[in-house]
Order: sequence, then C-alpha cells, then structure tokens
Amino acid sequence: MKTILAQFDTDALPSSFDQVVAVDSNVEQLFSYGSVTPGNVTGLVHGLMFTRGPAELKNSAIFIGGSDVAKGELLLRMVSKTFFGPMRVSVMMDSNGCNTTAAAAIASSRKHLNLAGCRAIVLGATGPVGLRAAELLALEKANVTVVSRTLDRAESACITIRTKVADAQVTAACASQPSEFEELCQNATLIVSAGAAGVCFLESGVLQKIQGLKLAIDLNAVPPVGVADIGVMEKAIEKFGVICYGALGVGGLKMKVHKKAIASLFESNDRVLETRTIYDMALQVAGIAT
Ligand SMILES: NC(=O)c1ccc[n+]([C@@H]2O[C@H](COP(=O)([O-])OP(=O)(O)OC[C@H]3O[C@@H](n4cnc5c(N)ncnc54)[C@H](OP(=O)(O)O)[C@@H]3O)[C@@H](O)[C@H]2O)c1
Repeated sequence: MKTILAQFDTDALPSSFDQVVAVDSNVEQLFSYGSVTPGNVTGLVHGLMFTRGPAELKNSAIFIGGSDVAKGELLLRMVSKTFFGPMRVSVMMDSNGCNTTAAAAIASSRKHLNLAGCRAIVLGATGPVGLRAAELLALEKANVTVVSRTLDRAESACITIRTKVADAQVTAACASQPSEFEELCQNATLIVSAGAAGVCFLESGVLQKIQGLKLAIDLNAVPPVGVADIGVMEKAIEKFGVICYGALGVGGLKMKVHKKAIASLFESNDRVLETRTIYDMALQVAGIAT
C-alpha cells in the first residue's frame, strides 16, 4: 500500500520547501492543500480516516505547515479533535520550520554543554523559533533569560513556557539597542539568537567580550546575521574560546530531523509530532543519549 502524506498549509500556496522534504523522505503520494483552516479541515481529515482500514491507516499521515505558527497550532487542535478511537492518522506540525529548527538548535547545544543549570539567553525569544528554543532549554533545566524588545512580550513568553514546563527557570528581559543586548548577554554560558531575518543583535567583536561564554548559536541566515561574529555556514567552529553555530550550521541537523520525522509518521497511525517529540528525535539524530 502506498504512503500518502496530506500537506495542510495555512497559506494560500502550500510550501514548496515542505513538498521537497516530503519527496526526499520517500513519501509516495503527496496531496497538497492551501488555505486550510479549522473551518474547512474536517472533510479533508475524514477523507484520510475513512478510506483505509484501521490496520492500514499508518500509511496515511498529515503534515501541518504554513508561515503562521499560531494558525498551524489551531489547525493541529482541530485535526486532533476530528480523530476518534482507532480512526486516526499520524500528524506532524512544523509551521515555518519552528519545531524542527528549535529542536536542532538545542540538540546542537547538548552536544557541547550540560544544559542543566547553565545560564542561557534567547534573543528574539517571542518568535515561534525562539519561544520553542527557550521552552526546550527550560525543559533541560537551564536558567533561561527570555529577551524581547518589550518587557510585556518577554513576560508573556515566560508565562507560556511555565504552562508547558512546570519548574521552568525563566526570566523576562527587554532590550532594543545593540549595547543593551550585549549587556544582557554578559553572564551567559549559552546564547541562542532567534531574531527575525535580517536583524543583528550582537555586533562584530562582542563575543570575545563575554566572560564565561561557551556556545553561541545564530539562527538568522539573512544578512545582517543575528550575531555578527558568526558566519552563516559555521558549524561547531571555535572562536575566542566560544563554539559557534550559524543558521546553516544548524540547518543540516534540522533537515535530517525533518526527514526522520516525516518517515516516522508512517510507523504507526497515532503519532503527534510537535515541539517535544521532534526534540526527542533531534537528540536521537544528533547521537545524544536521553
Ligand atoms: N536555520 C534554519 O533552518 C531556520 C528555519 C526557520 C527559521 N529560521 C530563522 O530563525 C529566526 C527566527 O524565526 P522566527 O520565525 O521565530 O522569527 P520572527 O518571528 O520573524 O522574529 C523573532 C523575534 O524577533 C524580534 N524582532 C523582530 N523584528 C525585530 C527588530 N527589527 N529588531 C529586534 N528584534 C526584532 C521579535 O521579537 P519582539 O518583537 O518581541 O522583540 C520577534 O518575535 C529567523 O531569523 C528565521 O529566518 C532559521
């Protein structure tokens, strides 16, 4: 029986990136739908649930994507509500690459650092990638500073993280000028820069000024990059005693995780792959024992 992946994209045009990854993950039939909403998704889910017997349903799966992560989360909720009993298919949510990117970044950190108790700072922590990176760091028991240009947004991100990680050690902070970002990073062991594309937080020469910094990861690939001292292609390159990863340095692991996650959808009909499950997969792919 052929494997079928139904791509439910909240944007009008389904993402070509997600389509290529599906094909490269050996999906045999890809059905792509655009402008999918909680209001129109039920019929599409029924079409997947009721066409194959329960034992065959592991050959059908759903991928939820699109540029709007909040819409993707609502869609995941509606899709999950539509399933009942054994009448379900596996589903993965990775709108805008948020889960695979954050998972790959924090799994990369785990290769070099014991995250428990480490002083981590996430710049741009209110975006979909930064928020998930901060959640995963909190899950790993790091002390996480959650940075936004607005204190309210940073505090609200901390509240969101605390609802997901009961004992999260998270502190809100705000900065908007390069000197303020630099100041906040002064005591950090780990910096994750997850700002919007083309936003530079830490200017050239800053990394060597941060005492005790061991690892810095920048996820912004669009010039100017988020940490000027880190090249976009760099992967575990040591500079000034700091191990550095640029966006494409993390991107290799992210792509492997995305493909493994798609392939794993067809191992059973009851998987729900989102932040935590995708992170577990990233640790496995990175060869880190859990
Ligand atoms: N390497 C990969 O494989 C990969 C995959 C996906 C995404 N990415 C990259 O990961 C980064 C994060 O993605 P995302 O979708 O979470 O980003 P995003 O939502 O576009 O932005 C993240 C945060 O950056 C802050 N920000 C926005 N404009 C700013 C400005 N002019 N100055 C300072 N801060 C600003 C905002 O926080 P406040 O408003 O709260 O300050 C925002 O919540 C992006 O650079 C994206 O391109 C990389």
